[in-house]
Amino acid sequence: MKKLIGAMLACLVAGSLMAAQNPEITTDTGGIKSERGTTDLATEAEAAPMKNFRKDGDLYDRQYMHQPPLIPHDTRNYEVDNKVNKCLACHSFKNASKMKAPKISPTHFETRDGMTLGEVSPRRYFCLQCHVPQADAKPLVENTFKPVEALN
Ligand code: HEC
Ligand code: HEC
Repeated sequence: MKKLIGAMLACLVAGSLMAAQNPEITTDTGGIKSERGTTDLATEAEAAPMKNFRKDGDLYDRQYMHQPPLIPHDTRNYEVDNKVNKCLACHSFKNASKMKAPKISPTHFETRDGMTLGEVSPRRYFCLQCHVPQADAKPLVENTFKPVEALN
């Protein structure tokens, strides 16, 4: 075991030495395009232009079973951190009818072990992990996905 750990450490040290001598190893994208374009990783990429999200509108149709519904309104300045959750100010069971907003569903109270809690489960707390607003933007890559017919 000790030998194995030693060998692993040696590999790590050798790896970081190589990277230090040859900065290209860690910063060159190898021509692979991402949302930052092909900008070298050590260089700050030009920020993408801000998208215009629609202010408000009808709910979007769902495209497949268990899809987190898309957000039909702007979410700019809606704060979500360990102290406040602006989304719940409208979407919690308590506030939804007053705010005329759809309620989060009971799945949002379930832990991954299937326990139902008395408040939003930590795994459903950061709403924007699953729900996203929409902007009129060109797809970044070709996509041939077709919505499930039974839902539309
Ligand atoms: C000021 C109240 C308010 C806040 C804050 C708010 N929403 Fe909404 N949301 C609504 C209303 C009202 C609707 C219903 C559609 C409409 O009228 O825009 C809605 C619709 C939605 C839907 C669509 C549900 C469905 O069944 O299709 C999702 C998802 C959603 N909101 C997520 C969020 C998330 C995530 C946040 C926080 C980043 C958030 N909302 C913050 C009021 C709010
Ligand atoms: C891990 C992914 C995930 C997170 C995080 C999450 N949701 Fe959802 N949400 C879903 C899915 C999937 C659905 C579809 C119905 C279901 O499974 O409950 C849904 C449904 C909804 C709906 C429609 C309810 C209905 O009856 O169909 C609203 C509104 C909503 N979520 C709001 C929120 C808000 C607000 C938060 C943050 C507090 C949040 N969600 C966090 C995945 C998520």
